[in-house]
Amino acid sequence: MADAPDLAAALIAENFSRDEAGTLRIGEVPLTELAKEFGTPFFVYDTDLLRRAYRALRAAVAGFAEVDYSVKANPNPAVIRVFLDEGAGAEIASGAEFDAAVTAGLPPERILFAGPGKSAADLDRVIAGGIGEIHLENREELSRVAAAAERHGVTVRVALRINPGATAQGGAMRMGGKPSPFGFDEEEMDAAVEAVEAQGRLRLVGLHLFAGTQGLKADTLLGQWAYGLRLAARIAKKIGRPLETIDLGGGLGIPYFSGDTPLDLDALRSGLPPLIETLRADPSLAGARVVLEPGRYLAGPAGLYVARVLAVKESRGSRFVITDGGMHHHLAASGNLGQIVKRDFPLAAVTDAGGERAATAVVGPLCTPLDMLARAAPLPPLTEGDLVAVLQSGAYGLTASPTGFLSHPMPAEVLVDRGRAELIRLRG
Ligand SMILES: Cc1ncc(COP(=O)(O)O)c(C=O)c1O
Repeated sequence: MADAPDLAAALIAENFSRDEAGTLRIGEVPLTELAKEFGTPFFVYDTDLLRRAYRALRAAVAGFAEVDYSVKANPNPAVIRVFLDEGAGAEIASGAEFDAAVTAGLPPERILFAGPGKSAADLDRVIAGGIGEIHLENREELSRVAAAAERHGVTVRVALRINPGATAQGGAMRMGGKPSPFGFDEEEMDAAVEAVEAQGRLRLVGLHLFAGTQGLKADTLLGQWAYGLRLAARIAKKIGRPLETIDLGGGLGIPYFSGDTPLDLDALRSGLPPLIETLRADPSLAGARVVLEPGRYLAGPAGLYVARVLAVKESRGSRFVITDGGMHHHLAASGNLGQIVKRDFPLAAVTDAGGERAATAVVGPLCTPLDMLARAAPLPPLTEGDLVAVLQSGAYGLTASPTGFLSHPMPAEVLVDRGRAELIRLRG
């Protein structure tokens, strides 16, 4: 997976296929058929790929952690249901995500709530709904959760989200954590523990550490997790009772760009024995449920975003393919979702009969130069009516996009399950 063209080709070879005419298929269904049936643009997810990612990760961390799903990556209830069927719980970040998880059939006690700004209304909603755990991130929230627990006359299970005092570099954690709105700074951890323990309606059961997203290196993740276990032991010692939950977050990455190397699950697995030993050796941690709650790793590779070409324009020596899809549906692919350097997501022509490739800009229909799905995708010649597909689009696609901008309709979402396509979000 060395270069951008190879990344798209390698991902297609790994997860998808082409028929004899060169048409891209997802779960054996040609994208041209889906475009005919559901119109464009649309997102499509393959159930088998969602399951495959979940099972691979669960197997890699077996004996150490359970794998839950971070709903923010893709909150479509049909997608959540796939992971629920595999045995996952969920991490949610709003009342609406709580409803999506419950609608998907997840028992509320299998859901935990993280996020730096939980409103009183959302807290009421999740507490009334019987949520399993709320992860506290600041002082005001601590008081708000305590007040909500009082209003509902219940005891709420909480964990402390900690912003570590060290950052991961390779396998090691070096002192000098970053400022962050997420969680209590590690320096304040003891005081935060005391503040929770002083609240009669809050029961401190765990620690939450989420040290960063898009981690492609096993030893970095292992270093973060080991650090999390040390913090957990400190909390347990301070409260004088064993912990029940150690949430080590998500953040497992997938390759998007030229040169990205996929996360090596074998390396992850082989680094776990010392962590398992740390847990076993400490009675205050041995009974705790260790949780990973990734989103991107589980949902990203299973999704494609498919758009239709509206025009092909040559302008002063550059070729622009203008499509009906763009950043209003897929902000991440346009490079505007927090990327410092804008690089192209892997993008392919849906029907590729060979033909000479040229570096092609693929743009959307919005009146802004930000609306670019690719700057220099190596594509065969395309004409009006052809289709293009953006790979690695199952996570942080539609849900992370400014869908109101320019008032185009919402795209359809489709789930393919063993050759059958089901509409899981209406266009419009
Ligand atoms: C608390 C928490 N858990 C999980 C995730 C999911 O991260 P990822 O999709 O990188 O696994 C996030 C992402 O922001 C998060 O904030």
